[in-house]
Amino acid sequence: MTKCLQTKSMEAYREFADTYDYLMRDAPYQQWLELIEKIIHERSKSTEGKTNGQMKIADLGCGTGTLSILLAEKGFEIWGIDISEDMLAIAQEKLGKLSLPVQRRVRFLQQDMVELKLPVSFDVVFAFCDSLNYVVDEGELSQAFANINNALAPNGFFIFDMLSIKKMQSLGARKHFEVSDDTICIWQNEWDLDNELLTYDVTILTQEYGQMQMYKRVDEYHQQRGYQPELILSLLERNGFELHHTFADFHYDTPLNEAQDRYFWVVRKR
Ligand SMILES: C[S@@+](CC[C@H](N)C(=O)[O-])C[C@H]1O[C@@H](n2cnc3c(N)ncnc32)[C@H](O)[C@@H]1O
Repeated sequence: MTKCLQTKSMEAYREFADTYDYLMRDAPYQQWLELIEKIIHERSKSTEGKTNGQMKIADLGCGTGTLSILLAEKGFEIWGIDISEDMLAIAQEKLGKLSLPVQRRVRFLQQDMVELKLPVSFDVVFAFCDSLNYVVDEGELSQAFANINNALAPNGFFIFDMLSIKKMQSLGARKHFEVSDDTICIWQNEWDLDNELLTYDVTILTQEYGQMQMYKRVDEYHQQRGYQPELILSLLERNGFELHHTFADFHYDTPLNEAQDRYFWVVRKR
C-alpha cells in the first residue's frame, strides 16, 4: 500500500521551499543577473562610480537566494530579504557551501516587505520573479513601495518585474502536473477576473528517501494579484519614485504592451 504523510499550509513558501530550486531549475537567473549588471553599469552616475564591492544591494523576496549568491560572486555586497523562514533556510544552506569571501558579502534577513525596516541604505533594491505580485492588497503594495524608497540612498534605484494580467489569466486557466523520479507536483490554478487574483493550489508528493511506497504530501495555497501598469506607476510616483525605464520579457528595448508576460520597471528615488 502507498502511504502519504500530509502537511497542509495556507501560508505560501513553507515546505514548498524544499522543492523550489528543483521547480526553478530552468528559470532565467542568468538573464536577471545580466539585467541588473547592465542597469547598474548604465546608471553608474547614481552610484557615483562605486566599484562592485562598494555597492550595497538588496534582493527583496530573495527566496532561496540564487540571485543574491550570483551577485555576491560578482563582488557585490548583498542583503537577501524574504518573508519565508523556510526559503531563507535553504538560501543559508546554499551560502554555507561557498567560499568565505562570498559568504561574507551576503546577509539573509527575514522581513515582510510591507513592514520593511532596514538599518542601512542601499544603492539598489531589486525584486525579481514576480515577488511583488504576492502583495495582493493595493494599500500594502503602496506601503511596500514607500518602505523601499526609505531603504534607498539618494538617487538609488529600484528594479522589479511583475507578471502581466494577460499572463496571469493564462496561468489561471491551467491545471497541470510535473513528474520526476521522486517528485510529483500538481498545480490547480484559478483566475478571479473581478479581483484580478490568481490562486495556485499546489500539491507536492515527494518520495521518502529509500522507501519506494512512502510519499510525503505537501499542500500549499499561493495567491498573486495582477496590477495594471498605470496603477503601478501612480503608486510609485506617490511614494517618491520617478520612472526611468519600462520594458517587457527581458528585452530592454521592448515597451510594455498587453500581449507580454513579464513587465520590468526601473525607477529612481526622487
Ligand atoms: C516566486 S518567489 C521568487 C524568489 C526569488 N526572487 C527567485 O527569483 O527565485 C517569491 C518570493 O517572494 C517572497 N515573498 C512573498 N511575499 C513577500 C513579502 N510580503 N515580503 C517579503 N517576501 C515576500 C516569497 O516568500 C518567495 O520567496
